[in-house]
This record gives sequence, C-alpha cells and structure tokens, in this order.
Amino acid sequence: MSMDRNMALELVRATEAAALASARLMGRGDETEADQVAVDAMRSALNRIEMKATVVIGEGERDEAPMLYIGESVGTGSGPVIEIALDPLEGTTICATGGPNALSVIAAAEEGGFLHAPDTYMDKLAVGPAARGAIDIDRSPTDNLKSVADALRVPVSELTVVILDRPRHEQLIEEVRANGARIKLIKDGDVSAAIATCSRDNQVDLLMGVGGAPEGVIAAAALRCVGGELQGRLVPRNEQEAQRARDMGVEDVTAKLEMNDLASGDVMFAATGVTSGDFLLGVRYRAEGALTQSVVMRSATGTLRYIDAEHNSRQKPV
Ligand code: FBP
Repeated sequence: MSMDRNMALELVRATEAAALASARLMGRGDETEADQVAVDAMRSALNRIEMKATVVIGEGERDEAPMLYIGESVGTGSGPVIEIALDPLEGTTICATGGPNALSVIAAAEEGGFLHAPDTYMDKLAVGPAARGAIDIDRSPTDNLKSVADALRVPVSELTVVILDRPRHEQLIEEVRANGARIKLIKDGDVSAAIATCSRDNQVDLLMGVGGAPEGVIAAAALRCVGGELQGRLVPRNEQEAQRARDMGVEDVTAKLEMNDLASGDVMFAATGVTSGDFLLGVRYRAEGALTQSVVMRSATGTLRYIDAEHNSRQKPV
C-alpha cells in the first residue's frame, strides 16, 4: 500500500506533540532534556499512526539512541510501508537558549526514497524554485553566486546567503564577502534556513556550507515538495564515519548528491515551530491550552498547508 495523501496530516500530529513537549523547556539551558521530551512525545504520536514505518534518519545509531534510532519500526505495524526521516527537535541549543527557528520535523517517503545518511557532516548548497537548476556544488561559491544572481535577475550584491556561524566556514564567508553578497550568519538550524530559500518573502536566496548530514536529507525532502533544490556532499570527519556511510549503503562517500539521491519519489514533509522563526511561529501558551503553527507539504502536488492549531487543555493535556 502506498502513502495516502492524508498521511501528511497524520504526521503533523507527531510534530505538534514534540513541539508542545519541548517548547515547555525553552530557555532552560538543557539541550538533552528538551530533546528527550520531544523524542518521547513524537515516538508515542507516531506509534498511533496506521503505518509500517522505518526510521532511516533519526536520533542516531541504535547503540547510542534508545528511541527513534535508525532502523526502528514505528507506527501501528499495519498500513502503508514507508520510510521516515525525523528530527523531533531540530535546534536543541536554539530551544535551550530561546533563540529563533527551532522546529520539530518529519519527512516521509516510499521505501528507498531517502539517502540513508549516517550522523556525519554534509556540505550543502540550497536555493528556492526561481534558482533551481542554477547551482552546482562541484563549482566554486563564486560561480554559484553568479549563476544564482543571473537566474534571479539581480546583482550578486543583492543576494542573501545563510551560513552557519562556525570556524570551518571562515574561508567560505571570506569568498562570499569578496563577491559582495549579503550574509546571514546563524548559530544553528540549517533545515529552517534551507526552507527559508523557498519562502515567498525572499529573505534568503541561498544556504551554503557544512551542517549535519541527516538535516541535509530532511531539508531536501522539504525542498522537493516546494520546488527548490539542494545539492550536497558528505563530509565524514574520519574513516570511521566514512565506513559507517558505506555500511549504510552509500557507495561513493564523496559523491555529489542531487535531489534524487537525497529524497526521491513521493515525499511528504511536516514541521511545527518550537520557537518562533522565519516561517513558523513557535508554541504559545494561554489559559485554554496552547497554540501551534505547522506546515505540511507534499511533493505530488506542491501544496503547502499552514496549520494553526488550538490545543485545548481541558479536553487533552498539552
Ligand atoms: P541539533 O538540533 O542536533 O542541535 O542540530 C542543530 C544544527 O545547527 C543543525 O541545524 C545543523 O545541521 C547542525 O547542528 C550543525 O552542526 P554543528 O553544530 O556541529 O556545526
């Protein structure tokens, strides 16, 4: 049985549950606890959905993550057979410090739809629909900036590039600056940054640089749904990580990864804001319960649905 279109709406219950749980710990300075409550809440919600799903991008290897580990089966065990890529709390530090753009995310695909990426790094280059086809991670940042500026019909100086603020990006930042493009340095959260390249309000044109590989797959799933493009290349930190990638079925660890390598076939994506950010409001509390904002997308139709939910604590604890 293949994925029903309503599956996307089922998945959003799980991202809402995780967001509601972790948002309570916003600003507490405890990343581990915020992540743990998100994992617990997402896992219970997933196990109520009628599906036979396997986590392919999750909290880590089985020996280091007791729940939502890579290979874990979730769902009721009957229904469509699918693969799931999830991050119950994308931006653990963001949540722990009350920063912007922490999300709870799930992407789903049919079997074989996602790259089975180990917990290593990935060099990423992402753009929105108007610049799709204009990027090539094999080329230099300078070449990519020029080509994207041409596609968008603006000078390079009017492009905004998001880059994770990390010492490893010193050279990249220098090169982007030398080209005159604007830069938005972020502390964390490159999934949200990748999606922001596709938003209508044009705050961001490109995401460049190295972030988590699992996050790369999740972001690619979202971009497939909305017509953007993400290219990547795994950047293992050592031979052990490279070997883990091979063990997970990645034949050429240094190969360029295009959309079809990262997320193919029928893909669905759901995200709920934990803290408010560029495209989603975070969880807000009030006497009657809590408010959440989520987005649900499907590659089959390209439809984007924003879901504002009012969770009533009299009928169901939030
Ligand atoms: P976590 O939610 O696991 O803390 O990830 C946050 C994040 O900023 C991702 O968005 C990004 O891909 C990755 O960490 C970058 O890794 P690092 O912090 O090691 O540079």
